[in-house]
Amino acid sequence: MSSALALGKGDLPDAWDQGEPASLDPEYAAHVAELTSGGADWAAFYERAARGLAGAPDLAQLKERQTHVLGRERGILTDRLAQLPGLPPDQRKQAGRALNLIKRWLGELEAAKRWALEQAAEARAGAGLDVTLPGRRPWVGRRHVLGQVQDEMLDLFHGLGYSVYTSPEVELESYNFGKLNFPPDHPARDAHDTYWIEGGQLLRTHTSPGWVRAMEERKPPLRLVFPGRVYRAEQVDASHMDQFHQIDGLFVAPDVSMADLKATLSTFARSILGRDARTRLIPVFFPFVEPGAQLDVACAICDGEGVVKGAAGETRCPVCKGAGWSELLGAGMVHPNVFRAVGYDPEQVTGFAFGMGLERIAMARWGIPEIRLFLENDLRFLNQF
Ligand code: PHE
Repeated sequence: MSSALALGKGDLPDAWDQGEPASLDPEYAAHVAELTSGGADWAAFYERAARGLAGAPDLAQLKERQTHVLGRERGILTDRLAQLPGLPPDQRKQAGRALNLIKRWLGELEAAKRWALEQAAEARAGAGLDVTLPGRRPWVGRRHVLGQVQDEMLDLFHGLGYSVYTSPEVELESYNFGKLNFPPDHPARDAHDTYWIEGGQLLRTHTSPGWVRAMEERKPPLRLVFPGRVYRAEQVDASHMDQFHQIDGLFVAPDVSMADLKATLSTFARSILGRDARTRLIPVFFPFVEPGAQLDVACAICDGEGVVKGAAGETRCPVCKGAGWSELLGAGMVHPNVFRAVGYDPEQVTGFAFGMGLERIAMARWGIPEIRLFLENDLRFLNQF
């Protein structure tokens, strides 16, 4: 090349141990060839510098060599590049191109070498790993107990031919009450005191409004379950919350009878609470069914006694309030007025419906004494399920 910018042997210390650049850069041989075509001296310098970088025994040495060759202030290449403007134009172009290529390729080589040294250092540190130390167990979450109960019930009803229908938590008064045959000032509304939103909207007090929506939308026969959260402006105590979860069921077809309802409910009770669960079906009023019934289960806390024994002697059971029975669900044959409200002909169709609280079911099954536990997010409670 023989330009004023010649890179000589003396530019690089002889003491540098030499490495094999090709193992770090597969293009190495091609780079040498390309530089050789532009002048043997460029190639010779590139080769010596590359071997020096590749041969660095550790990160400190590598840094030193990198500074010597590529350093931004006093590196050899920086120095030569700064002299470029002084060259005659014909030489300037060729030298500039060669210097810039060398600079880029050596920079890449240095980065590859640094990565290799770092990997090796990490592997050495890993060799000190004590595999006999106890492992760190990852924290595993789980589905909330109510979610588990809901899944189980949906599974059960899926097996009985029911599909899931969901409807809004913010509901119209007419769907929550009117079309379900609650007369405007009927005392049955008192049990469903709720939170009102402007414009005749409210937080639904039960999942039964879903039946109305489903029947308005679809033609019979229907076999549906309606899971979801419901709200009531309740006085909160051990067995009442102002929000809880329900699943309603609805079966509408030409010849559905009370016997079908009883069979469905007993299948349900045995599956959820076990073969030996004591239940009873008693008549009870709901505006949207006729006849209406309630399925009770012997109270899980006092086992049907109505009293619990504690330090202070026998006291009234706080969960069933002394009754000995807990209400598990409401049920009945769909009222003709409900069919009329959705445009079905009560002479043509019959149906049964039921509705249950998920919290009640979980409490009955596991003997949970406090409904508030479900919403407190205390892991000591939740981790038990
Ligand atoms: N929707 C009623 C309630 O929440 C329960 C129910 C459903 C009763 C279906 C009868 C039939 O109180």
